[in-house]
Amino acid sequence: MRLSDVRKLIRLRRFELDQTRRLLARCYDLDDLRRAAQRRLPAPVFGYVDGGSDEEITLAANHAALRRWTFQPRVLHDVTETDLQVRVLDRVLPAPLGLAPTGFTRLVHQAGEGAAARAAASRGLPYSLSTVGTTSIEEVARNGHHDPWFQLYVMRDRNITRALIGRAAAAGLAVLEITVDTTAAGRRLRDLRTGVTMPPTLSPRSILGIAVRPGYWISMLRGPALEFASLTPYTTQELATVANIAEKFDPAITWADIDTIRALWPGKLLLKGPLGPSDAVHAVAAGVDGIHLSNHGGRQLDRCIPAIDLVRPVREAVGEHCAIIVDSGIRHGADIAVALARGADMCMIGRAYLYGLAAAGQPGVEHVIDLLLAQLRRTMQLLGVTSVTELRQHGDDLVIDPER
Ligand code: FNR
Repeated sequence: MRLSDVRKLIRLRRFELDQTRRLLARCYDLDDLRRAAQRRLPAPVFGYVDGGSDEEITLAANHAALRRWTFQPRVLHDVTETDLQVRVLDRVLPAPLGLAPTGFTRLVHQAGEGAAARAAASRGLPYSLSTVGTTSIEEVARNGHHDPWFQLYVMRDRNITRALIGRAAAAGLAVLEITVDTTAAGRRLRDLRTGVTMPPTLSPRSILGIAVRPGYWISMLRGPALEFASLTPYTTQELATVANIAEKFDPAITWADIDTIRALWPGKLLLKGPLGPSDAVHAVAAGVDGIHLSNHGGRQLDRCIPAIDLVRPVREAVGEHCAIIVDSGIRHGADIAVALARGADMCMIGRAYLYGLAAAGQPGVEHVIDLLLAQLRRTMQLLGVTSVTELRQHGDDLVIDPER
């Protein structure tokens, strides 16, 4: 055989010189990205992202509850043109997906909230900034996203709460979501065992970690110091452990606070937590525009009902006019298809995008979004539907609980 014949048989793949693109090209699903994140992060930081509270029963239940559903496709429908577009909170989104608020994001990657927000913006999708973010409200509005949401923890000091709401409005934000599942700090044993702190502290163990993960530490030491950026005007910047920051949130929060905030906030208002149907009805009566169904990704109440199991009962209770967003356990586009078929308007992701961010910064988050949306599109095509409206309409025929 001549060399030219051999070349016809073997197609050499062009070697990708860019290290990030090379890494991402090998990440075919979220498990690959999770492993890439684990390789890049010091163990305590990876544990902070990956872990759940107590026995991690909710964490496991979230995954099991989403994967319980089976698909019964319909055949012989033209699915050439598949449109993922949805309308949520008076906005037209190209796909039913957004990035949920995560605190301490610059602990995961120096580019932090800004990179995640820009990745979401590059795909036209929402990004929600946490109260305990390491990038300020103003900075994200200026350099991250044209329409970011703000996630509010109601603080013990109501002057701080009011000031945060005022700053979000002044920075032009139009969606505020109040997290209502944090009246006590979830007890995340992985964090207690590793003693993860914000900013990272140098202990004998973390010094050892520098040798194992030099890339992480070099980028951390090069960048600006980590701080709770939106909270710095109100606090002396004492070292906060990840485990104790929730003590600053008010356990006395009640429906009266929701009424007060509703009166203060001119934009769209959401409640974020594992709300059951009667709480959801109460929320709508209080003037809330949407419910973000979430058990905090299994980081708060252990043995909590999976958020996906709340979607249908809450939809039936609040009707079609209230937006329903769901997170907790989404790792695949098929999970999003299940949530939509059960009646959700869109899904959000937490850990999924943090894995991408840890692995490769902004391109890593974009890769996660693209993977999930490609998986969703393929799932819809194989189910025989061409739009989210169609998936919602035929949800009960297409997505079936085999135990029923
Ligand atoms: C969170 N989450 C969260 N929620 C919130 O309202 N305010 C916050 O500051 C945080 N911080 C935070 C940090 C980290 C590292 C994670 C993983 C999560 C919860 C988050 O918004 C979302 O509800 C869950 O992440 C959804 O579950 P999955 O997608 O991680 O399974």
